[in-house]
Amino acid sequence: MRTALPDKGRDWDTLKGEMEAFKAGDIDWKSGRLGVYVFHAGMDVMNVGKEAYQLYHTENALGSETAFPSLKKMEADVIDMGLSLLQGPEGACGNMTSGGSESIFMAVKACRDQARSKGKDVVAAGLVIPYSAHPAFDKAAGYLGLTVTRVPLQENYLADVQAMQTAISDNTIMLVGSAPCYPYGLIDPIEELGVLAQDEGLWLHVDSCVGGYFLPHARSVGVDVPAFDFEVPGVCSISADLHKYGFTPKAASTIFHRTEEQRSHQIFDFNGWPAGGMTTQTAAGSKAGGAVAGAWAVLNYLGVDGYEEKARMIVNAQDKLAKGLETIDGLYPLLESRYAISTIASAELNIFSVWKRMVDRGWFTSAIMEPVALHLMVQPFHVEVMDEFLKDLSEVAELVRQDADNSEAEKPRYN
Ligand SMILES: Cc1ncc(COP(=O)(O)O)c(C=O)c1O
Repeated sequence: MRTALPDKGRDWDTLKGEMEAFKAGDIDWKSGRLGVYVFHAGMDVMNVGKEAYQLYHTENALGSETAFPSLKKMEADVIDMGLSLLQGPEGACGNMTSGGSESIFMAVKACRDQARSKGKDVVAAGLVIPYSAHPAFDKAAGYLGLTVTRVPLQENYLADVQAMQTAISDNTIMLVGSAPCYPYGLIDPIEELGVLAQDEGLWLHVDSCVGGYFLPHARSVGVDVPAFDFEVPGVCSISADLHKYGFTPKAASTIFHRTEEQRSHQIFDFNGWPAGGMTTQTAAGSKAGGAVAGAWAVLNYLGVDGYEEKARMIVNAQDKLAKGLETIDGLYPLLESRYAISTIASAELNIFSVWKRMVDRGWFTSAIMEPVALHLMVQPFHVEVMDEFLKDLSEVAELVRQDADNSEAEKPRYN
């Protein structure tokens, strides 16, 4: 039955109680049992984001040029901080968006409109992307009337630059690499892609939604991170999510461009209606002031040393997981990524049964299908629960081994 708007409003205490009760069936992220969707860097960080969000809960960044210059200043600071992390050259610029999907959408839209401004027929235009790239590219292309060619990966799951070169046609306008990609947590060969993009005169977008606010700090604490950002000359734009490894409140991401000229194709500017000029930098009209304020506050609260500490915790948790797996019969790390995403595979156990039994014990991870593996977006807080996770994983692996009937195991979804 359809829920009707109540005839009379109800008091907040009752509603709050009801909402807290709704949560009973949800995964308890506060105890670090979630390996996707939430990025837990400690309650102090969470509270800074929350208080900052509340402070600007009502303000609307649609009015940041007019009513709320404070939001304009904070967004500009966030963009500057992001550009300095990602080695943006003089003239590089960017905007905050609501998430990785919107950042990617803005990059694809800017690329399409730039191509059109140069006289290219974009009716059949398209993107050439690695098979491992996020579906947000297909979504953006679908919205914008573009095609996507997903190119098979190398055996090591990295983008196959040669195969991508072969897939380029006269209609291609954009190449994509991920740093890292979601399924495997690997950084594509961005330098090689940069050379290819420059040789072919194409726009290279680096999807660093996962890595943008993590990789620079991981590098500082000793992780081997290949060049992936504006340091690579062919990189035109980068998407980097604040609400992932920036640990800021949702909905917050950044889209960066090498030049203002590129970004000019992202902007919507309109004057043909009764209410005066409207200019927006991104897809949104009204835009949550809280997300801008939350990002500004968390970036300043953590600073370089705070982020480095969190990066160290993530890498320690990943290393601890890889080491712990050595003691669990039948399970092993699929890949040796130290870029915040870990994968756990098995040659003999039904991974979907392992996944389901871990969910039953309150651990929620995602999974990949090609090849089948558990998939974790490792977070700083996980270092504290990794021993417990490994203990449960070891018990579950044994149970799955003993249970012959795993045939009906349910397949996890991305969402
Ligand atoms: C590599 C990558 N790109 C893009 C996205 C999309 O981000 P969002 O869910 O914030 O739209 C994700 C989400 O996990 C991702 O992992």
